[in-house]
Amino acid sequence: MENIETIIPMPRIGDKAPEFNAVTTQGNIQFPTDYLGKWIILFSHPADFTPVCTSEFMTFANMQAEFAAVNTQLVGLSIDGLYSHIAWLRTIKEKIEFNGMKDIEVTFPLIEDISMEIAKKYGMIQPGESTTKAVRAVFFIDPKGVIRAMIYYPLSLGRNFNEIKRVIVALQTADAYSVATPANWNPGDDVIVPTAGSCGVARDRMETKVEGVTCYDWFFCTKKLSIDQVNNPPKVK
Ligand code: BEZ
Repeated sequence: MENIETIIPMPRIGDKAPEFNAVTTQGNIQFPTDYLGKWIILFSHPADFTPVCTSEFMTFANMQAEFAAVNTQLVGLSIDGLYSHIAWLRTIKEKIEFNGMKDIEVTFPLIEDISMEIAKKYGMIQPGESTTKAVRAVFFIDPKGVIRAMIYYPLSLGRNFNEIKRVIVALQTADAYSVATPANWNPGDDVIVPTAGSCGVARDRMETKVEGVTCYDWFFCTKKLSIDQVNNPPKVK
């Protein structure tokens, strides 16, 4: 039997997103080419017609406008066929009411990947968890097609979609303002300015007060960044 762990390298942060062509519930796609210029969240789920996945799809579809507002395209995948995907999404729309959500239409593409070819390219098959179902992987891909963050969850654990949105906004904010974001950062909280790169800058940071900047020590300074600045970032080249 083929040993998936030895022959498929896992994608890494900073890698170009592996390319593929796929059949989806919204027609054929070329990935990531079709979405260059946008951020992409590529996510896998274990199987259609399962409860955790249903709750996740409803939540993601319900937040789709929020992701579109931050220039982000959602793309789903599971090891199921196109007709299963279509039937499941129709059932969700017609029958399922959950957490105050109903009549939910999933209009982002859901990839069929019966061959597991795409799932394997992205390290979504993790044999210790399942050899036939994808784990709950989330890839954050930037407008140039580069993987910027990844989160993997096991089959039993539904994702936190507020965290997924927070990661996208934090990455966009870091790019737009050349800053980093501290633990539990949310838009409106202070951001981290790049660490001092010389003794002179380190001394200045400790000796000179700058409006809106707080230095806890020479290597750890934060500054204010308003929600308005986060929501209206300058264009990144
Ligand atoms: C679910 O989505 O409910 C699920 C799928 C596969 C294994 C366990 C749970």
